[in-house]
Amino acid sequence: MKAPIKGFSKLSREAKIEWMVNEIFDGDKNVVGLLDSYLHSDEKVQKLHNEFIENTISNYFLPLGVAPNFLINEKLYTLPMAIEESSVVAAAAKAAQFWLKRGGFKATVIGTEKIGHVHFMYHGDSLKLHEFFNDNKDHLLASTNDITANMQARGGGITGIYLVDKTEELDQYFQLDVRFQTCDSMGANFINSCLERLAESLTSLIQSDNRFSEDEKKVQIVMRILSNYTPNCLVRAEVSCPISELAEEEGVSPQEFAEKFYRAVRIAEIEPYRATTHNKGIFNGIDAVVIATGNDFRAVEAAGHRHASIDGQYRSLTHCSIDNGIFKFWIEIPLSVGVVGGLTALHPMVKFAHKLLGNPNASELMGIIAASGLAQNFAALRALVTSGIQKGHMKMHLLNILNQLEATEEEKAYFVNYFKDKVVSHSAVVRHFCELRGIPYESMVKPK
Ligand code: HMG
Repeated sequence: MKAPIKGFSKLSREAKIEWMVNEIFDGDKNVVGLLDSYLHSDEKVQKLHNEFIENTISNYFLPLGVAPNFLINEKLYTLPMAIEESSVVAAAAKAAQFWLKRGGFKATVIGTEKIGHVHFMYHGDSLKLHEFFNDNKDHLLASTNDITANMQARGGGITGIYLVDKTEELDQYFQLDVRFQTCDSMGANFINSCLERLAESLTSLIQSDNRFSEDEKKVQIVMRILSNYTPNCLVRAEVSCPISELAEEEGVSPQEFAEKFYRAVRIAEIEPYRATTHNKGIFNGIDAVVIATGNDFRAVEAAGHRHASIDGQYRSLTHCSIDNGIFKFWIEIPLSVGVVGGLTALHPMVKFAHKLLGNPNASELMGIIAASGLAQNFAALRALVTSGIQKGHMKMHLLNILNQLEATEEEKAYFVNYFKDKVVSHSAVVRHFCELRGIPYESMVKPK
């Protein structure tokens, strides 16, 4: 890139692309063709995409897969999963099928409370501020009435407001800690609007209150923002069965499988290196459904990882027990998701995903997403404690390797059959591909 640009956002899409072609791609016009080829053929749909974000130049596709046979609270679902990684959808589907015959997933929503804060600095007598807060709590809440009226009519709204003294951690730092119920929405915009109003009211009420000195009246609002950590917007999903009903896996007996599986979870509970990978596998399932249903996977991940380190050490989000011959495996995770608002009414594929799930409400969706994380983790651990992960994962990755090699459809069919009883590895595929085509292996592995 030669020089920075001012006013880029004001350029048309074509001018933005032209600038990039000239400044970054040495005038390569193929870039235009590539970006154009990913535009939607329906102009109305493309316009929606253009307006979802800023500086849109094209679309970025992710595959949408489906995982059938998820029995959750006695209801059968087919899960939409938007993800780029091979074997995730297959693993979810396989785990769902396994638990379908063993009672399915039990999901329980423990709470749906959301949180936001007004972070402010107050230099003065803390007792006075507490007295002021107790006297003015109702005024503060009433000042949000026009924003909360519709949410209240749906059964939600602000459910609590607290003054928190944080001065021991940071000089002059106080919070208004505000609790919300946002019904079927994730509620970010609603919460932030309430917080901005509360901050305004807090400032003006303090400034007109004679108990404060002129100095104390100089309250500084630092931020008003929701927290993506929602410890009371929590869901639990669980599977269980007698150990004797666990299938024999790769020559491993049900008893040995249960014990190894239990130990694998215990290791992830106490070992942060393992917990990180373990939880990554859980988010393979969670993110895929969160993205497909138009929810905010960054928010869900941030909350999940915070929850995983609640006692100061990063730990597994899933847990396992073996009691009286019963194998139990569960996840407890904060999941703040919505079925209205955001992209849900706009993105055609998001609408499809909700329909596929039978248009669940937000609580039902929490259970579905938790089950997808648990299923994913079950499949990964099952592979890890028996055959190893590469066997199944690379079997699913085979087509990606063949596509990289630009194999024909006939060659792909041959390779799928050839590797049916062999463990796929990148080098094994490339070697055999070279043998078949009669080309030297070295020519394929030399850096370009
Ligand atoms: P398999 O036993 O070879 O599969 O398992 P199968 O061919 O016998 O088919 C059994 C069922 O699996 C199918 O039933 C499907 O449900 C599903 P059917 O539909 O035939 O009635 N299935 C598929 N679904 C769709 N398309 C397919 C397909 N193949 C099977 N092509 C499998 C193969 C990959 C499922 C198994 O080995 C597995 O579950 N492995 C785990 C894979 C995994 O966890 N992948 C995630 C990526 S690795 C990672 O990032 C996370 C990790 O590091 C996390 C951690 O360490 O904890 C592992």
